Amino acid sequence: MSEPLQSFMSKKIPLLHTHFTKLFEEKNYPETLRESMAYSVNAGGKRIRPLLVLAVLEDLQARSEDAIQVASAIELIHTYSLIHDDLPCMDDDDFRRGNPTNHIVYGEATAVLAADALQTLAFEELASLQHTAPATILEILKVVSKASGAAGMVGGQILDMEGERKQLSLSELEQVHVHKTGALLASCIESGALLAGASKTQMESLRVFSSNIGLAFQIKDDILDVTASSEQLGKTANKDTASEKSTYPALLGLEGAQSKLADHHGKAMEALEAIDLSNSLLAQIGDYIIDRNA
Ligand code: IPE
Ligand code: IPE
Ligand code: MG
Ligand code: MG
Ligand code: MG
Repeated sequence: MSEPLQSFMSKKIPLLHTHFTKLFEEKNYPETLRESMAYSVNAGGKRIRPLLVLAVLEDLQARSEDAIQVASAIELIHTYSLIHDDLPCMDDDDFRRGNPTNHIVYGEATAVLAADALQTLAFEELASLQHTAPATILEILKVVSKASGAAGMVGGQILDMEGERKQLSLSELEQVHVHKTGALLASCIESGALLAGASKTQMESLRVFSSNIGLAFQIKDDILDVTASSEQLGKTANKDTASEKSTYPALLGLEGAQSKLADHHGKAMEALEAIDLSNSLLAQIGDYIIDRNA
């Protein structure tokens, strides 16, 4: 990881964590639910989605008092999606972010409810921004809800399940990945751009960057499932092969998957060049997404 990105992360991640602590301390939630929600959020993770929101603002030299709140809201949605993804009725995983999964610790019913509550908390947070114009708040709500729901992450999750034990075409597989993972990642960049008041030209290039880097992120996730260890990943490795998931390595082989990864990374970088962001934090996050080993 580049030095500027590392220093950006060490500045921003503590701010996110302070915000999470406040979220779970301030409210009078039923104790088991509060614990279960906080357990998965505080378990860590790479925090790529919130970092993308914050990086767009930094790269466009814009500031927003609400940036951390928007960034953390999307991380709450992502965390809810992981809790559900790990349930026995879905991927049936017992290890996540280096810890036992939520349902292993709190039981399935509590895990389902904690994830539900994280999702609604995210939208409460987005609807409660104090320093953003109401029209922009509405735009962000629309972008994030669409990316999270049937036309985005949830839709992708069902396509993923329906793709088990099947040979999908490359374009069908691309659709699974674009929906289940790409959409929410793209919503981070779009939300950051909305907060930053990005121009139409910037927005268009950022969308091309987002769609390519979002897809690249899931291709890399598929590759790591095959090449990395559970310890390294903090989640169970080789899970996709065991479940006969449709993945890039399963369809194209490891080399084919790596070449698709490089293609989408290249397209993402070209889009940044078009708006003079070749040396930006977004570009460095793009590099990190494909070079990461966890
Ligand atoms: C894992 O996401 C699930 C996918 C969408 C591929 P991350 O790899 O971002 O997981 P964390 O947040 O770092 O745990
Ligand atoms: C999950 O994809 C995407 C989500 C919406 C959570 P995966 O099932 O491949 O994610 P991991 O590998 O379990 O993190
Ligand atoms: Mg899954
Ligand atoms: Mg999974
Ligand atoms: Mg995976």
